[in-house]
This record gives sequence, C-alpha cells and structure tokens, in this order.
Amino acid sequence: MAKKFFIKTYGCQMNVHDSEYMATILKSMGYILTSSEKKADIILLNTCTVRKKPEQKAYSFLGRLKHQKEHRPLIIGVGGCVAQQEGERLLKHMPYVDFVFGTHQIYRLPELINNLNQKEKVCETNFTYQLEPPKKIIPFALYNKFRAYLTIMQGCNNFCTYCIVPYVRGREISRRSENILQEAKMLLDSGIKEIILLGQNVNSYGQDLKEDVSFPELLRRVGTLSKLRRLRFLTSHPKDLTLDLIKSFGDIETLCEQIHLPAQSGSDRILKKMNRRYTRGDYIKKIEMLRKVCPEIAITTDIIVGFPGETEKDFEETISLLQEVSFDDIFAFKYSDRPPAKAVEFKEKIGEKVKAERLAVVHEVQTPITKGKYKEKVGRRVEVLLDSYSKRSSMELSGRTRCNRVVNVRAEPSLLGHLVEVEVEEPLSHSLRGRIIKVFD
Ligand code: 5AD
Ligand code: SF4
Repeated sequence: MAKKFFIKTYGCQMNVHDSEYMATILKSMGYILTSSEKKADIILLNTCTVRKKPEQKAYSFLGRLKHQKEHRPLIIGVGGCVAQQEGERLLKHMPYVDFVFGTHQIYRLPELINNLNQKEKVCETNFTYQLEPPKKIIPFALYNKFRAYLTIMQGCNNFCTYCIVPYVRGREISRRSENILQEAKMLLDSGIKEIILLGQNVNSYGQDLKEDVSFPELLRRVGTLSKLRRLRFLTSHPKDLTLDLIKSFGDIETLCEQIHLPAQSGSDRILKKMNRRYTRGDYIKKIEMLRKVCPEIAITTDIIVGFPGETEKDFEETISLLQEVSFDDIFAFKYSDRPPAKAVEFKEKIGEKVKAERLAVVHEVQTPITKGKYKEKVGRRVEVLLDSYSKRSSMELSGRTRCNRVVNVRAEPSLLGHLVEVEVEEPLSHSLRGRIIKVFD
C-alpha cells in the first residue's frame, strides 16, 4: 500500500507555497496526501519564525507528534524558518524528529528521506541559492484549483531591525523571467485562472539580475499571457514601489486592484530605528499616487506596536496614519525580539501590558474603518472568481473580488472556476454575501 504524507504549515504565503513544492516532491516519490495527521507515515512540519507566536505553535504541534510516534512508525521532518534558524538544536531538544531541512533544501527532500536510517539524524541548513526546481515540476495545487502561487524571488537584503527574515531566507535572489513565464504557462494550461507572484520583497525583483527584466516589465509579460484572468503580487516594500510599478495598476488589465504595503509605523523616528528607509510622508505620497492611478485599489498593511523606544507620541502617529490612509484592512502585531535581528539589542523595551493596550487601540480604531469598507460595497456589482466551496453552506460557493474580498453566493457546484458578476447584498465581518447577476465564462 502506498505510504501517506501529511504537511502542517505555519506562516506566510511563501511557506504555504513551499509546502506545495514539498507535496509535489513527495507525490513524485510515490507518497499520497492524507488530510489526517494520524494516518500519515511521514509528517512534514513547515515552520515560521517571523514572530514569537507562530514559532510557539510549531513547537506545540511537535510536542503532540512525540506522543503519536510512541504508538506507531512515523517519520517526522521539520523544515522552514525555525528549522533554518535552530538546525541541530532542534534535533538535540527533540530527539523524536528524524530530520531537519532548511529553507533552501526543499528540492533535496527525496535524497534526505531515502537516506534516513535509525542511527543518524540529518540536518541540512546550508543556503544553496537554488531557486529552480530540478525538473520542471508544477507545484501541486494543494489549496486551490484555480488560484496559484508562483515564487519569483526569495530572500531579503533590507535588514529591517526587527526582522529575522534575511537570516533565515538569505539574500535576495530572483528567478530568470523565462523560467517564471514557463511556469506561469504550465499553471494556466492546467486550469489556473489567477496567479499570485511571490517574494519576501517582491517588488525588488530583478535588481540582482542585471541583464533580465524589471518587475513592472515582468508583470506586463505575465499579465498578458493568454488564459490568465487575474494577477496579484505579494509582499511589497514601500521604498521599492516605483512610479512605473504604480502605473502598472492602470495599464495591465489582469492586474487586480489590490496591494499589501506594510507601513509598520506612522512615526518617522520609529521608521528610522526600524531601518525602513522611507518616511511617513513618502508612504502617504505613494498611497495617493496609487489611488490616483487606480481609484478602486484596496490597500492593506502590517503594523508593529511596541517597537523598542516607541513613545506614546510615536504610537499616536501610527494611529493617525491609520485614520489618514483608511486602509481596507490591517494586520497588527506586538513587537517581539527575534534574535539575531538588531533590535534585540535596542534598549527601552516596551512592557507586555503596554504592547497589549496599544494593540487593542489599533484594533479599536481600525475595526470600524474595515467594516465601513465592506458596507460601502452593498448594492455594488463586483467580479468574483468562484474558487472553492463555501465553509458555511453546501449550497454556496466562495470566491474573491479583484480587490481580494471574500464573497459567498448561492451557486451550483458547476460554476466553480468561473468568473461571475455578483451584486453585493450583505456585509459580514470579513466577507460579503451576494447574488449572481451574470456568468462571464
Ligand atoms: N515583531 C513583531 N512583528 C514582526 N513582524 C516581523 N518581525 C516582527 C517582530 N520581530 C511583522 C511585520 C511584518 C510581518 C510579516 O510580521 O509587520 O510585515
Ligand atoms: Fe523583513 Fe524588512 Fe525584509 Fe520584509 S523587507 S522581510 S520586514 S527585513
């Protein structure tokens, strides 16, 4: 009987997509996917270390696996950012883990798994800077049949002082545009309608490839492929949001009206200490330009509260940024030390209680703004790509608008994968409900 695998993923879309690569590789080795960890012969844990919380979650999941391993044969492999950072220490503290593989070692999974033996544990965490799959594999769409991620670059050169990413993902490396286009075509031929280009710092794509294309040019080339209906990209750094890139939102029809643009703070003093290399004024100017080129654009952001040395006045500037920009939605986090990131050494750490209070204020200010954005849509007609079954009801399908809002509608399952026009009837807290007016194709 074929052996079964289970993958547990924490963290960002890059990790989610890395898990799709892992699944593709395990399938090519003859394993089959199971949705139950209890039935698996091999479990891979893909970890995240960007903040304390996801790291703790990964450790508690591993703790549960220890118990399972006492009762049946089970191979446990730990990959991703915690694996990269902790390496051998993971094996030492958790002897029931069979192997550890870093963020650049995914393509070596067959070799690592085939060579496992009882006596020796394996830990591979070198940076190889190999971004191309060894064979032309299409990452198996683990999570959605119509929307696919496509990694175009990895790593980060920015060294924001709070951030561990450059240490666990390495320096920026971009894939050559011809390989990206080839993978995009394969995805489209397999039925994918929407592509999301991924990179830790996606809009600095190409800066390391002197002779290849710029990011806006790559967007144009991917965006005009036949069969592609929608294009998005994640995650952008405000300092690399050029005028050319902003103009792309007006020029490329498939490019959806949506951008995630982490601001982190509204205080110039804190932005400087974070080494973000833009000011509040620069950020706001770029938002204004985006809205001028593309009035419908949905803008979301990340905010950190309680960065070392953040005064009440600095915090108020973050709050006033939220009010001034009026984001469609935000992701807000309490600062946590992530060694070896530089801010670990910064004095004037903010206490947990103040951080929690500031986070609560951020949510208090943003919640009505987000709700208002959903309410504004009632009565409007939006284009939705129906990409999955609704979690609430078997009579409904779920999809996203071009602005990336989730919409649920009553629909026959045969409409899965279709673009439809929906009239929005009801705003829910983080989604919309509506009725289909027209089926586009
Ligand atoms: N503490 C809190 N939040 C952090 N982030 C990154 N590093 C930290 C940290 N040390 C947040 C940032 C980033 C998001 C992915 O996680 O807001 O944009
Ligand atoms: Fe981290 Fe800054 Fe790089 Fe983003 S740009 S991954 S926040 S160092």
